[in-house]
Amino acid sequence: MSFTVAIDGPAAAGKGTISRAVAVHFGFAHLDTGLLYRAVGARMLDGLDPVDAARTLEPSVLERGDLRAPEVAQAASKVAAIPEVRAALVDFQRAFAARAGGAVLDGRDIGTVICPEAPAKLFVTASDEVRAERRFLELRQKGVETSFEEVLAEMRERDARDSARATAPLRPAEDAVILDTSRLSIEAAVGAAIETIRTRHPA
Ligand code: CDP
Ligand code: CDP
Repeated sequence: MSFTVAIDGPAAAGKGTISRAVAVHFGFAHLDTGLLYRAVGARMLDGLDPVDAARTLEPSVLERGDLRAPEVAQAASKVAAIPEVRAALVDFQRAFAARAGGAVLDGRDIGTVICPEAPAKLFVTASDEVRAERRFLELRQKGVETSFEEVLAEMRERDARDSARATAPLRPAEDAVILDTSRLSIEAAVGAAIETIRTRHPA
């Protein structure tokens, strides 16, 4: 039986961390859909046309080590505003969502566009400052040279572009549960997400 959990929200809100933990807890498969847009963005930076890149995306490109770089995040948000790029990635995401045994997908438009019928939807958010601090610490740990201010500016620019675009903008689905993680530990945020999903899960 398939069961889809949709987890959306702005940059560095904790979507990935919560999705991975939820997937382990329920035994579901997990897809970080941001990686698809990051992969297309990386190929645009390589010089490819983004629509061609999206139409010919191979799963192996998701293994590229540079996908978490801030310049790739910016490129991802630019290609993500192109309707043909988004359209090229829909079937893969929907097939993943429908797999037997359950699936968690995290991104920006999972609850609104990719899986509007998903029984469990979360919109994970946190204040700009908290999110930038988390992403800054994460990047610094990976050895990326940056500052808090730079990360905050990059994130706000991306969130603004993601929210303003005409196709599949960043916004909570009407039936999404909002989870503000500003003051929550990872354990508390994961616990709250699992509780929400449990109330919608038949088993
Ligand atoms: O996937 P998304 O960009 O929304 O965020 P993430 O990669 O899951 O989380 C960004 C960073 O915030 C990671 O380093 C997490 O460990 C951290 N985090 C946190 O400190 N507290 C939370 N409640 C959730 C995430
Ligand atoms: O980890 P973080 O939240 O910073 O970003 P991400 O989830 O890896 O997404 C990178 C970019 O891809 C976002 O800024 C969006 O522009 C785009 N994206 C999207 O448009 N739709 C999705 N379902 C997932 C990501």
